Amino acid sequence: MRISFCCTGTKAQPWLDGLHAAFPGAEVEVWSAGKPPADYAVVWTPPQQFIDEQTQLKGIFNIGAGVDALMTLRLPSGIPVVRLDDAGMSVQMTEYVCHAVIRHFREFDGYESDAAQGKWTYRKPRMRQDFPVGVMGLGILGERVSRALAQFEFPVQGWSRSARTIPGVQCFSGEAGFNDFLATSRILVCLLPLTPDTENIMRHDTLARLQPGGYVINVARGHHLVDNDLMALIDSGHLAGATLDVFRTEPLPAEHPFWTHPNITVTPHTSARTLREESIAQIAGKIRALQRGEPVAGVVNHLRGY
Ligand code: NAP
Ligand code: GLV
Repeated sequence: MRISFCCTGTKAQPWLDGLHAAFPGAEVEVWSAGKPPADYAVVWTPPQQFIDEQTQLKGIFNIGAGVDALMTLRLPSGIPVVRLDDAGMSVQMTEYVCHAVIRHFREFDGYESDAAQGKWTYRKPRMRQDFPVGVMGLGILGERVSRALAQFEFPVQGWSRSARTIPGVQCFSGEAGFNDFLATSRILVCLLPLTPDTENIMRHDTLARLQPGGYVINVARGHHLVDNDLMALIDSGHLAGATLDVFRTEPLPAEHPFWTHPNITVTPHTSARTLREESIAQIAGKIRALQRGEPVAGVVNHLRGY
């Protein structure tokens, strides 16, 4: 068996070592143009040439949850494209989103700046019922995040393509449910995959439907959000601010106004990192399942784009 590794921006050797340990008899190597075709590909944003050279693939494993970059390529038909299926990401994402929601709700930024000036200042307690949280995307990450927010007793709404039932979460679905979902949300969390249907979903007219004092947490992809529309709505006072982990261009360019906006918190695409050991174990398990002719979880549906 031959496994080819083609992951942009990823230190290869520890992955090669881990994959080799899982499959001691296999050839495991970093792809470069002209190498023999592989049976399995482990990828992150590979070039089209990599895919074009693979004539005998049995599976493509993406070392992230989002497959938007892969979906822009011409992929061979009939070969499973498999995304990471949690692999330690959902707990990280839950920490990140709960932190951002609670930091905003409890006004920790304000207390921090008071403390920096030596001020012992009380603020009036805010009521949870005034801060309903809407989670767009109720998949592996969004479901866990919404359950955790409900545990903190925030009113939680979720929105997905197909109808879902999650205890403690008011679920909306499809285009028909979108406006009501937005209108009942004050804090909006984006955990959608990036597809033609979801690109620019957070723009002026949709964000304007959030309750006054709204707050945006984007942890999915930068192209879900129209940057200038967000800033205009913050500057007009309709939105209170945003915590953003993902951007249209990454790294976020030095001159981008998000860096210096007082109401926007920026982190460097770090809300849920790929954990190497968990991911290798998951991919190895799925390669073995495919070899036995068994189905695996996390296979991308090309028509839906996720
Ligand atoms: P997932 O399991 O595929 O879940 C996607 C959810 O979005 C599903 O509930 C799906 O609805 C819903 N959805 C998709 N298209 C929709 C549409 N047009 N309208 C309404 N709902 C729609 O994905 P996941 O594992 O939770 O990950 C979500 C995204 O998070 C990834 O695609 C990736 O972009 C991002 N991510 C970011 C980081 C980071 O570090 N910032 C890390 C990991 C992932 P159904 O339930 O009906 O299918
Ligand atoms: C990270 O952004 C991922 O999609 O896993």
